[in-house]
Amino acid sequence: MTSTATKPRGALARAAIAAKTLRTDRWWLPPLLTFIGLSAWVAYATVRVFMHKWYWVDAYHYLTPFYSPCVTDRCVEGSSHFGSFLPGWWIIPDAALTLPFLLLFRLTCYYYRKAYYRSFWLSPPACAVPDGHQAYGGETRFPLLGQNLHRYFFYAAAIISLINTWDAIVAFHSPEGFGFGLGNIVLLANVVMLWAYTISCHSCRHIIGGRLKHFSAHPVRYKAWTFVSMLNTRHMQLAWITLGTLALTDFYVMALAAGWFNDLRFIN
Ligand code: FES
Repeated sequence: MTSTATKPRGALARAAIAAKTLRTDRWWLPPLLTFIGLSAWVAYATVRVFMHKWYWVDAYHYLTPFYSPCVTDRCVEGSSHFGSFLPGWWIIPDAALTLPFLLLFRLTCYYYRKAYYRSFWLSPPACAVPDGHQAYGGETRFPLLGQNLHRYFFYAAAIISLINTWDAIVAFHSPEGFGFGLGNIVLLANVVMLWAYTISCHSCRHIIGGRLKHFSAHPVRYKAWTFVSMLNTRHMQLAWITLGTLALTDFYVMALAAGWFNDLRFIN
């Protein structure tokens, strides 16, 4: 995409068409749905993160991913698996160590970039529809230059997925010892989806299979790259599915912690 600001020398000017776009389909629908979906999710997550309650079910050791790991001195007893060393000021999220990295991981994700460039910045809102801005600078200057840090946020997200996995393991608990309930299925499904989204990352695909001259000399990396590439084709779907599983898991834990209903228990 070019504009007068970035048009390569010698590039042809846009044809003199009076209409803003010649598209006659409902090209505005996907960016509109994306705008609504992302706005709703961010609103829900923001409210939950600063609610500072209903994130831990002590009887079953369920911890919502929005508070994992819980590291402020406000964390309720039992919910801090890695210590509680930050002050419990209202403005500090209880998972202050991980949430910023998760936010940056998703903000710089190749798919989400497309999603919010189109739906929030209208840059451009759809193919063959003009950019909502006069100039287009691409990702060559601050702050969008920071999008190139995505691979480093991938490493952080992989560590956080390990922490979420640990949360799902310690949740096999009941007052009698080992326990298994619907909450475990919810937590496990969420963590499996989080892993699928994380390793389907374009940076992960490059880290695993990039810069190799001959796949035949690296059969294990080739197998891993093939698997990640298969997941990578579903990256957009996984991006949305994980927003859903994160919100659902958080809501389920909140409902149990608030006493709105009881966990469905299969064992203990
Ligand atoms: S490209 Fe989406 S998480 Fe890396």
